[in-house]
Amino acid sequence: MSEVEQSGLTPDQIPDGWSRIAEVYENSFESMTSQLAASALEHLQIQAGERVLDVATGPGVFALGAAERGGKVLATDFASGMIERLQKRIDDNRIDSIETRVMDGQSLSLDDASFDVSASIVGVIFFPDIAKGVAELKRVLRPGGRCAIVCWGAMEKFQMFQYLRRSIEKAVPDFEMPSTTPVWARLLGDEALATALQSAGFKNVQVNTIIAQHQVASPEAYWNNFTSSAPPLESLFNMLGEANTERVGQVFAELITQDAGGSTPSLSAEACVGTGVA
Ligand SMILES: C[S@@+](CC[C@H](N)C(=O)[O-])C[C@H]1O[C@@H](n2cnc3c(N)ncnc32)[C@H](O)[C@@H]1O
Repeated sequence: MSEVEQSGLTPDQIPDGWSRIAEVYENSFESMTSQLAASALEHLQIQAGERVLDVATGPGVFALGAAERGGKVLATDFASGMIERLQKRIDDNRIDSIETRVMDGQSLSLDDASFDVSASIVGVIFFPDIAKGVAELKRVLRPGGRCAIVCWGAMEKFQMFQYLRRSIEKAVPDFEMPSTTPVWARLLGDEALATALQSAGFKNVQVNTIIAQHQVASPEAYWNNFTSSAPPLESLFNMLGEANTERVGQVFAELITQDAGGSTPSLSAEACVGTGVA
């Protein structure tokens, strides 16, 4: 049993799991998460000079958008690799309104009521203690401050995951998919998200559902990125082993190409964008 398995945590719940893939994350996932961040930003209506906290920022797509709208942003993540990646973007683009800090979102070393806006885009969904993460997003807000949390929506509309399941069934029929709920699916869908926000004491809770799309120009490149940069699926690929993973990848590419019927394949996923007021 690996050290990670012994800890009872999955690779997507430890900083190193994310730091290792920080460089490729932008190519594999950001085209999706940028759409989630854009929706959260639209709902939050950040005003120039507002203090904005981004928790589990990754390479910072929400933080960068908040800064563009005039926010004074603190971007935090527990993975130093992700923070280094964002810092490079900040330096390259000479942005002076984003600060970065390595921090666990379940215990932010930040004062109460010190922000106008807080957000976490598919971030708190990975925390061992999701409720603590949501409570922290509220604690740091001034009364009247706004929060946005994004999680994934209905599992059957998560096409990437559904294609993966079908490809495994076809390529490795004897393989038994793990019966445990993936970590990120513990907070899934609009009702669960509304309950999480209300339980933390947020008022005026609203949840909107959106469909995010990812164009897959090269299925092979997508699969390579995906298998080398997806901490949430690392355990699954380890269980499958290298040869089976390769076979699954071939079937995956075939299926999405076939279903696209001559167009560029596109994978969509439903996401829930929840907002509340402290
Ligand atoms: C799917 S990525 C999302 C990144 C970014 N928000 C985006 O939308 O592209 C999940 C992020 O959560 C971070 N994360 C996971 N658990 C965390 C924790 N306990 N505290 C802080 N960050 C955490 C990971 O390091 C990773 O950057």
